[in-house]
Amino acid sequence: MESDPRVPSSDSRLFCRLADIAGQLDPAKTLLVSDARIHALYGNHFPGLPYALIPEGEAAKSMDALAALLDSFIRHKVDRSWSVLALGGGSISDTAGFAAHIWMRGIGFCAAPTTLLALCDAALGGKNSLDFGGYKNVIGSFHFPQRLFCDVETLRSLEPVQFASGMAEAIKHGILDGEDHFAFLEDYARRYGGEKGLDYSNCPAEALERIVFLSQQVKLGIVAQDPRESDTRRLLNLGHSFGHALELAGGMPHGYAVSLGIALASSYARSKGRMSESDLQRILRLLARCGLPVSLAAVDSDGSLRMKAAELLFMDKKRVGDLVHFILPERIGTVKIEKIPVEELLSFLLKDGA
Ligand SMILES: NC(=O)c1ccc[n+]([C@@H]2O[C@H](COP(=O)([O-])OP(=O)(O)OC[C@H]3O[C@@H](n4cnc5c(N)ncnc54)[C@H](O)[C@@H]3O)[C@@H](O)[C@H]2O)c1
Repeated sequence: MESDPRVPSSDSRLFCRLADIAGQLDPAKTLLVSDARIHALYGNHFPGLPYALIPEGEAAKSMDALAALLDSFIRHKVDRSWSVLALGGGSISDTAGFAAHIWMRGIGFCAAPTTLLALCDAALGGKNSLDFGGYKNVIGSFHFPQRLFCDVETLRSLEPVQFASGMAEAIKHGILDGEDHFAFLEDYARRYGGEKGLDYSNCPAEALERIVFLSQQVKLGIVAQDPRESDTRRLLNLGHSFGHALELAGGMPHGYAVSLGIALASSYARSKGRMSESDLQRILRLLARCGLPVSLAAVDSDGSLRMKAAELLFMDKKRVGDLVHFILPERIGTVKIEKIPVEELLSFLLKDGA
């Protein structure tokens, strides 16, 4: 089966409850892929469904984990008529989606994302990536989920760091989208945010669904214009050039690195006179109110993180020769794709960065 570059229709991404999903799946032809923690929490909603467990977090995105998952495809006699259901965060949907794409040249793939990051971003858009040789997301494919099952109640069991991590992508989408979306997030953060981050356990499901819905609209809208990232889709990499390098260099959660990446990209834009001080401060304030880091100096007192991240910037997939396709935020709602010399970005990171 060929990978389907179409964006899922709105019907395929309605909000639902996990308990209602199993009835919509064929238990003889669906393999649930998850990790032990998520399976212990939510596996009971899928009685009778065959399942395979892969390691938690980034360890799921290794060649070893992929090989073990493909072994379980053999054990369960998965053939081309089967589908994989990824139940979990972005690392589960990345690996399960990639495995579904390469198995017998492509079998069906559905996702039930259980982290804010996966609901807002990782599980939609069809990109599935594995890490290799110490580099992040360098192996991958496009394989679009045929269905998304979105239950925001699963977010209640997330660790605060995981929830905050997802907010970084939600805020990224708000910056790309414009004033109304961004102001909604500011209002949400004022109500539920504080020094310790967001109190999402007391947040009504409707507010969580709004965050997810707005994010999905932005991401899927951009993906629809450019499914295979030849141009506009690059906008979704806002904060990711610095972010990926920092994530790998510092071993920090993806969203924390994206938050620092957005802070750095905005500060860089400000340093070039391309962003107003007031927009910069709004962006930094919103990230911080959601419990996200915005100051590299605060997490890198001896400068070693910057040095390591600088080396890794050279491996950025967005680099072409000496130039990086850099995503430059100018205003909330106005973001540009610009080719910037990698040396200039390195110098900003090492000398001026936030
Ligand atoms: N493919 C894409 O387009 C895309 C986009 C953004 C990020 N990503 C990738 O996503 C990965 C990060 O994913 P993530 O942040 O969703 O986390 P994750 O999948 O790495 O999971 C992190 C931890 O949260 C736990 N967890 C997940 N759901 C839970 C729940 N409901 N309750 C309690 N614990 C839960 C997991 O067991 C795991 O221990 C990164 O590898 C990143 O590169 C991919």
